[in-house]
Amino acid sequence: MDLIIRRARIRGRTGKKFDIGVDGNRIARIDERIPEKTGVEIDADGKMVAPGFINMHFHLDSALTLGQPHFNQSGTLLEGISIWEERRKNLSEEEMLKRIEKAIQWFVLYGTTFVRTHADTTERTLTTVKTLLKAKKIFRDMMDIQVTAFPQDGILTSQGNAELLEKSLEIGADNVGMIPHNEYTRKDGVKSVELAFELAEKYDRDIDGHVDETDDPNSRFLEVVAAQTIKHHMEGRVAAGHATAMGSYDNAYAYKLFGILKRAGVTIVPNPLINVCLQGRFDTYPKRRGFTRVKELLQSNINVCLGHDCIMDPWYSLGIGDMLQVLFMAVHLAQLTGYEELMKAMDMITINAAKALRLNDYGIEEGKSANMLILNAHNDLDALRLLGPPSWVIRNGKIISSSVSGKSILYRNGREIEVPLFSD
Ligand code: FE2
Repeated sequence: MDLIIRRARIRGRTGKKFDIGVDGNRIARIDERIPEKTGVEIDADGKMVAPGFINMHFHLDSALTLGQPHFNQSGTLLEGISIWEERRKNLSEEEMLKRIEKAIQWFVLYGTTFVRTHADTTERTLTTVKTLLKAKKIFRDMMDIQVTAFPQDGILTSQGNAELLEKSLEIGADNVGMIPHNEYTRKDGVKSVELAFELAEKYDRDIDGHVDETDDPNSRFLEVVAAQTIKHHMEGRVAAGHATAMGSYDNAYAYKLFGILKRAGVTIVPNPLINVCLQGRFDTYPKRRGFTRVKELLQSNINVCLGHDCIMDPWYSLGIGDMLQVLFMAVHLAQLTGYEELMKAMDMITINAAKALRLNDYGIEEGKSANMLILNAHNDLDALRLLGPPSWVIRNGKIISSSVSGKSILYRNGREIEVPLFSD
């Protein structure tokens, strides 16, 4: 054994404490007591071990651009979009990689080992996509990154956008994105979804769209996404982010939609930190929460996982990359506060996301890759109460970060890096 974690609780296995033995990059043995001695041992002292968190929806290209060129004073989506339009004119690979590295360091410290990022393909030079694809390689020792080609301004709103989306797939983007509610008309919105599916079929890619990110109850593109999924036989390969309009749908329509989503195997990816800030902005009181129907989706056996969406960018000034903060906000907004609901909530940043990504090599089991967190918690409830970084993060059998005694350290290329958490 190269590493043994002693006396750990394991998420999903009640009661006992276990020793977890790691050989190379694999979990070799899980037992109540592993008598063997090894050079590297961690005493978990009853803390809970869980697989690495998965952030299913994030924008690494705009991360950490807060205040550039100016701050979002209204805090609205529209002001955020206009600030990003200005900022993206001055993107360079060098400055992007610096920001991405800092965001990834924060994610790792807080236990995220897989991120699906969007890259804005309506940025005409595609510096966004090219740099994110480069980042995927540079930082693969710390994090698995998937890049979704995301037409931020729409596919049909400007000439050339469809071509840029396709070009992004040609140069290696992993998934096809869309934003049908941002197209000028319902007809264009439907057409944009169809175009995205045609590209997904042509390049054999998964779909991950921004869909119905609005309070408008007439925004009904999720049904189009589900219907196209069935038509193109892409069940289980499609995710839809935000889907906030669902919070404003008539109940009869919402439940009809659940049936189609279930049949199509579409995963819904809410982004609670952002949704609660950006939606409800045209309401007075009562003010809508701008959140999709997470509780009812889960009850209908539809896959739901969560995204952080933004950190310190034109749309969201806060964030440190803690998926437990995202989960904390989700359980409050969706009122997942029944005991069983609270104890299962972490599925949304772990196994539900792994299912959406079709990751077979995921989980705390013998034979699986040793990607795991020793959380600063004895159980799920504690994790949600206490938030904050895991005590240890292990990736492919190696310790890559620790947060003990108030010190956050990253271990990379034989070096110990103390990661500053302040914004400047
Ligand atoms: Fe987003």
